[in-house]
This record gives sequence, C-alpha cells and structure tokens, in this order.
Amino acid sequence: MTETVIKLENLTKRFGNFTAVDHINLDVCRGETIGLVGPNGAGKTTTIKMIAKILRPNEGKILIRTNHSGLVDLENVSSTVSQMGFLIDIPSFYNMTAYELLKYFAKIQKYPRDKIDSRIDELLSLFKLSEWKYEKVKNFSKGMTQKLGIIQAIIHDPDIIILDEPQTGLDPLARIEIRKYIRKLQSLGKTIFVASHMLYEISEVCDKIALINYGKIIGFDTVENLARILKTSILKAKVLNKIEANELGPIIERLSNRLKPYLDQELDPSISKVPVTYRPDKQALRFYYDGKINSQAEILSILIKEFDTDFTLTSFTQPKTSQLEMVYEEMVKDNLPEGNNTRKGGAK
Ligand SMILES: Nc1ncnc2c1ncn2[C@@H]1O[C@H](COP(=O)(O)OP(=O)(O)O)[C@@H](O)[C@H]1O
Ligand SMILES: [Mg+2]
Repeated sequence: MTETVIKLENLTKRFGNFTAVDHINLDVCRGETIGLVGPNGAGKTTTIKMIAKILRPNEGKILIRTNHSGLVDLENVSSTVSQMGFLIDIPSFYNMTAYELLKYFAKIQKYPRDKIDSRIDELLSLFKLSEWKYEKVKNFSKGMTQKLGIIQAIIHDPDIIILDEPQTGLDPLARIEIRKYIRKLQSLGKTIFVASHMLYEISEVCDKIALINYGKIIGFDTVENLARILKTSILKAKVLNKIEANELGPIIERLSNRLKPYLDQELDPSISKVPVTYRPDKQALRFYYDGKINSQAEILSILIKEFDTDFTLTSFTQPKTSQLEMVYEEMVKDNLPEGNNTRKGGAK
C-alpha cells in the first residue's frame, strides 16, 4: 500500500518574478489522504491547478501513475486525466438542475452513457441530495453547492480525488458533513489530496499533512507525528514592559541556566532550537518544560523571586491552542521569506 500515485518533483510556478510555488517535492501514496495546509496565498491552489493541468509549471514536474503503467510525466498524459477528479474554486453552476449539471460533467469525463443516470442517483443519495435532483442549482445553499461540487469531482469514479478548500464558506455543521464525506471516499479506497488553510479542520481526516508556506513545503509528516512532536509542554509568561533587545540575550541565557532542571532536555529542534524564547510582539517569554506540575511551580517561583529586577510578570499560563496549531505557527514563523523577516534578533 505504499505505491506512489502522484509525485511532485521540484514543482515550481512563477508569476512574473514572483515565485508562488517553490521547488515542491511530495509523494502521495495510493489510498492515502494528504492535506496540503497553509495560510492564504501559500501556493495551494496554484499547486493543484498544475496537477489539474490548468497551469503549466515553470520548473520541475508532476508524475502520476496511470492505470496501465508506472509513473509517467503528466505532460505526456492525454489532457483529460480520467483517473483524477477535481474540485477547484467555489463552483458556480449557472441555471442548470443538479441532474443536468452532473450529466454534463459525466459526459465530459466520458463515463459510460448507459450508466450515467444510475451513477447520478447513487451519488445524490450518498450525499443526501436526491430530493434536489431536478432543482436549479442556483437555489442551493452554499453547503449543498459544495457537496454538488464534490459529486461533480467524483462523478466518473476517479481513483484520485483532489479537493481545494472543500470547507470554504461553510458553517461548522456543514464542515462536519464534508469531513464525513471525505471519510466515505476513504472507505472506498480513494486517494485524496485536499488543500485547506484550516489545519485543525482538515487534520482530522488526513493521514499526513504537508505544511506549505510562501510556496515551500516546510513540513510533511503524519498527523500523529506532528502532534507528538509537540507533546512538549509549554508555559507562557507575559511581561509588563518590553524586554530591550540588548538585554534579551543575557536574560535568556540566565533563564536557560537557572531553569535547566525543569526545561525539556530533549526538545525537538523542529519545534524550537532553544527551550526559552521571547516574542517581542507579544511581550511573552516561552518555556519548553518537562510538563511536571512541580516544575511549573518552581519556574514561577524562580521567575518572581530571582528575575524581579529583569521583568515583571503579568501572566503565567499554559497556552490552550491545539498542539498542531502550534506546530503550524512555529513552522510558519520560522519560514518568513528573506527581506520580510520582521522578527527581532534573539526572538528565537
Ligand atoms: N494568475 C496569477 N497571477 C499572479 N499571481 C498569482 C496568480 N495566481 C496566484 N497568484 C499568487 O500566487 C500566490 C499563491 O496563490 P494561491 O496558490 O492561490 O494560494 P493559496 O491557494 O494557498 O491561497 C499568491 O500570492 C497569489 O496572489
Ligand atoms: Mg487557494
């Protein structure tokens, strides 16, 4: 079950001299659900549009495994890749009924004509849209339109399903529904590649997450590993007055030495290279510690008693953000492009 079905090799897309997708390498294996997660503008849609052959890469290539051969360059595969189904952008479906629309897409995808009607009924029923078969799509709610978009993507029963922000514009209940349908597709053995800017939403249904920022993949691992990496416990201490840049280095060093017995000795460098950090913008010190409640008490006591001339604490907390959100934040923060790096010296 580790056969690669999509392989991105140094995939690069430039718009003028702006690099939207920057030498991306990624393997998607059969039956896996991979999440491509990153903030708006990270390059997710551009990546997907290249896989859909809507855009041509400037560099690198996309390899796909066709039904009858090994990995081949997508360039050399006929323009409609019937093995793949796409949901890109928010669908806008004119004045057609759900039935007319799906029939139209099934024909484009050359689905066997005599099977189209039963396929449409099967999918409308699976997605609980049967009653809306002959309704005009323009009267559908956002959630229903999005579901129809997913049906459109899989109408020809592709093995690989590629969804761009399937949860966009949906309320929380509809987002739960979409996750349910993604699981349904998984249970059918489909390979799914889904782009989203909502890490938490999507992590629940993904086997692996590729974090993308400024066009670069900055992390690719299983959800469990990403979460486990961050099992590290964190304490956040806010200070009353900004710590000046020239004082920061020595303070961090003294903190690190004095608190050493309570800090995380096996801190994963992909989370943080040092166990004590300071974010000037938030006026917050962060301690990666061993997670023990006694250590919390010791750290607090030492901060108050021994660092009272260095700073005044205004709060001392364990941040509640989900662990995975935090990995994301850390990774994104460390990957600001050159010339746009607003971090003050010593922040990390
Ligand atoms: N056709 C285009 N021309 C110029 N810039 C573009 C074009 N399409 C996307 N971009 C830029 O490329 C970057 C990545 O966009 P996109 O792939 O849509 O990001 P995402 O889907 O992750 O939000 C953005 O900065 C966007 O403005
Ligand atoms: Mg996008």
